[in-house]
Amino acid sequence: MMAPQSVIWKLDDHTRAKHIILRKYLDAWLPILIREGRSGLLIDGFAGPGEYVGGEIGSPLLMINAYQLHRAESLRRGRVKFLFVELDPRRAAHLRQKLQAHLQRQPLPATATYEVYTGRFVDAMTNLLAGGCRHYDAMFVFIDPFGFSHAPMDVIRNLMGCPRCEVLITFMYQEINRFLEAVYRTKRQHYDALFGTPAWQMLLLDAPDVQTRQRRLHDLYRQQLLTVAGARYVRSFCMRDRKNTTDYFLFFATKHRRGMQEMKRAMWKVDPTGNFVFSDCTGLEQGFLLQNDDPEILATLLYEHFRGHQVTIDEIEEFVMADTPFFKYKSSLKLLEDRQQIVVCGEEGRRKGTYKDPTLLIYFR
Ligand SMILES: C[S@@+](CC[C@H](N)C(=O)[O-])C[C@H]1O[C@@H](n2cnc3c(N)ncnc32)[C@H](O)[C@@H]1O
Repeated sequence: MMAPQSVIWKLDDHTRAKHIILRKYLDAWLPILIREGRSGLLIDGFAGPGEYVGGEIGSPLLMINAYQLHRAESLRRGRVKFLFVELDPRRAAHLRQKLQAHLQRQPLPATATYEVYTGRFVDAMTNLLAGGCRHYDAMFVFIDPFGFSHAPMDVIRNLMGCPRCEVLITFMYQEINRFLEAVYRTKRQHYDALFGTPAWQMLLLDAPDVQTRQRRLHDLYRQQLLTVAGARYVRSFCMRDRKNTTDYFLFFATKHRRGMQEMKRAMWKVDPTGNFVFSDCTGLEQGFLLQNDDPEILATLLYEHFRGHQVTIDEIEEFVMADTPFFKYKSSLKLLEDRQQIVVCGEEGRRKGTYKDPTLLIYFR
């Protein structure tokens, strides 16, 4: 999509899908991380004007709603701050108006505050980090630019250095295409900053086709989130349209297994409207459709990965969260146990098919 010039614009299916993910994730994230004696910072780094032409709400109001409408009362006992960053002063002003009107009808409790910062994401983050982010116990940063620029890897690394920080990044596929085909040479520094390395240039040199180049750039970005930004779990989800072409990637990066588990749960829950579907795109050539919950698929992955080894349930869960599109694994273990492909060691009195204890040892025959 070409970046609109008007203050507000029409909501498209892609953004609608992204909003479903965001809302489902926040519904899970908020009560885990914000409760009595704890505080959280939610950042919308490319906030937009707060509404669309048809009156639909934008991501900042969606975040506020997720907080206000959440059933967990414990949320209101923790402190929360919303920081909305928008470069375009007209959109920032529109957003302020929308927020004021909304909060007049439905005020925030004293434990919650918000700020609209008019300016660049990079500057807002630099200010934030200079002031120290240590007074927040948890942070969630939504990075949703039109293109795939203005969010350099070093800023993401600095954010990931804050306590319990997670990022959700829109990585526009079409922009990559444009960038591959057009004037990328004039934008070298810009892309060096985006990836946090000039290595992207080498990847393009001997790539046989566009798909390979795109895959390499995707993999490099993921690798940089892991090694430079210091995330422990990174997965990318891609949105495909009816013709099965990829529209964009959403990268989610976190240091926490539970965060990845909740993001996967949110992804798996997205109801396909028929116009699009989300796939897990991490390391899979065609992407893995997040509709196929046949436990047989994960059972095969687990068996191939651990065959001949004895591992704990905790190690199995780590593999599932970090290296597969799945977040539930117990029914797959049960299949393997029923077929005697695994042997469960010890734990007297354990009921067959149950794997509660994270230290329980499993031998893959
Ligand atoms: C894709 S839109 C955001 C949509 C919004 N997140 C939502 O889901 O409703 C991107 C927004 O980022 C703003 N923007 C562009 N460059 C920016 C920058 N460097 N820093 C902050 N905002 C920027 C644009 O003006 C635009 O409103």
